[in-house]
Amino acid sequence: MTRHQKRKIDETHVEQGHEELDAASLREHEEFTKVKNIAKIELGRYEIDTWYFSPFPPEYNDCPKLFFCEFCLNFMKRKEQLQRHMKKCDLKHPPGDEIYRSGTLSMFEVDGKKNKVYGQNLCYLAKLFLDHKTLYYDVDLFLFYVLCECDDRGCHMVGYFSKEKHSEESYNLACILTLPPYQRKGYGKFLIAFSYELSKKEGKVGTPERPLSDLGLLSYRGYWTRVLLEILKKHKGNISIKVTPFYLDILFF
Ligand code: ACO
Ligand code: ZN
Repeated sequence: MTRHQKRKIDETHVEQGHEELDAASLREHEEFTKVKNIAKIELGRYEIDTWYFSPFPPEYNDCPKLFFCEFCLNFMKRKEQLQRHMKKCDLKHPPGDEIYRSGTLSMFEVDGKKNKVYGQNLCYLAKLFLDHKTLYYDVDLFLFYVLCECDDRGCHMVGYFSKEKHSEESYNLACILTLPPYQRKGYGKFLIAFSYELSKKEGKVGTPERPLSDLGLLSYRGYWTRVLLEILKKHKGNISIKVTPFYLDILFF
């Protein structure tokens, strides 16, 4: 489920007074979702403190730290398991097609249907840094755009965004993440720009799924400020901007 679909379901639940969920399991669910379960992860050359709860399978909940293979994103409880895994893991970049390259930067398009486990692993990982995200299992309906810095050891993920293959609401981006060690270097705005370039190629108007996080909002504002300023600079004085409600919430809220 995307956050939007989850919200729809949550709203339906409220309307129905949670009739279909008994009170105990609802309480259990709420308790479970509040507590941050994994404190740290190891990914490539970084140890990263996590931000939020992520619904890893229950057997991982007693682990203070999880060890991720930075290429296939499989996760393990112990460093030795990861070391054994790294000796036999064939991947040196995300699965899927490399659809963009510039210098050492590459973008891979991963189809959630063809690479289900990778998609799920990515969602588990991403949820550690996303408050609202509820996309875990139904990855078939999504494409994942994974941005990597590449060197002779392989392509190291720096961030990604997901996108519904068919969005009724014209969403061109469901969730976006830059991994903490790579944040504030412009990758967020690069990912946002990429999502709009894809929409342009499709000949469609697109917009990100709401609600945006605080950091998401800052990044979208930054992106649109630059785009608008570029246009104004090019047309110096010849044009004005009419802001429709469609864009208003991104620019001002
Ligand atoms: N404090 C203040 N400003 C910040 C911070 C911060 N911690 N982080 C980024 N910014 C600002 C930058 O200064 C920049 O502003 P500018 O345009 O005025 O220069 C703008 O945000 C974007 O910076 P980038 O370096 O391009 O973005 P970054 O690579 O850091 O990624 C992102 C932004 C993806 C939102 C990242 O913070 C992140 O992954 N956050 C956690 C997950 C999240 O909240 N995702 C968005 C959810 S909403 C959705 O998915 C639709
Ligand atoms: Zn692996």
